[in-house]
Amino acid sequence: MARKQVIGNWKMHGSIGQIRSVLSEVARAELGANVSVCVAYPYLGLAKSLLKDTAVQVGAQDVCEFHIGAYTGEVSAAMLADVGCELVIVGHSERRRYFGETSETAARKVRATLDAGLLPVYCVGETAEQRESGIAHQVIAEELQVLAGVPTSLYAVAYEPSWAVGTGVIATPEQIAEMHAFIKQTLDVRTRVLYGGSVKASNTAQVLAVDGVDGVLVGGAALSASEFLEICRIAG
Ligand code: G3P
Repeated sequence: MARKQVIGNWKMHGSIGQIRSVLSEVARAELGANVSVCVAYPYLGLAKSLLKDTAVQVGAQDVCEFHIGAYTGEVSAAMLADVGCELVIVGHSERRRYFGETSETAARKVRATLDAGLLPVYCVGETAEQRESGIAHQVIAEELQVLAGVPTSLYAVAYEPSWAVGTGVIATPEQIAEMHAFIKQTLDVRTRVLYGGSVKASNTAQVLAVDGVDGVLVGGAALSASEFLEICRIAG
């Protein structure tokens, strides 16, 4: 199996001690540039310094859509680049759900991320209700539509059905294959598409074996060094 991408999304978890402990182990594991960790803003510098002699990339979990100015509390893509970030998760379902982020805002964040020379990882996904009412494709198509005109080689997409995020209920291989094919068909067959939602070491091989899966976006399981390293080992 070719090497697949693994992105650990720490969400609003961690402390200096916890990040030092997990990322020190990650640093010792001699991983490749296919592995990234996205920690909360205050810990980006710490993550960079712990991983400085490795190929592992560091990313942020969000970014401001504006470039510079009087936007109290915000962090620009240029600032993220300045502290050594290489990627940014954009439009995560938790941003959409708890902070009212729309696809239009997320698209501006994707563009701001690109302007700073970083890789946006744009998240899409349907809720359980949307899937049950048969509109999952329509939802995903609308979420992708806002990126029209952005070359697909410049970003990655993460398919994260919100009913699988943090629930322990992972999408089936058939559901993943079907939606990844739909995303690639809608955008470009070469678009990198990652799967996220209850990925752990015990199901990684099965997910990565699904047609059209170019990697995984890992939440809870990224908080444990042994679990995360096992996922990275499976990804190659
Ligand atoms: O971005 C990763 C994510 O939302 C999945 O979280 O905890 O289900 O792996 P989790």
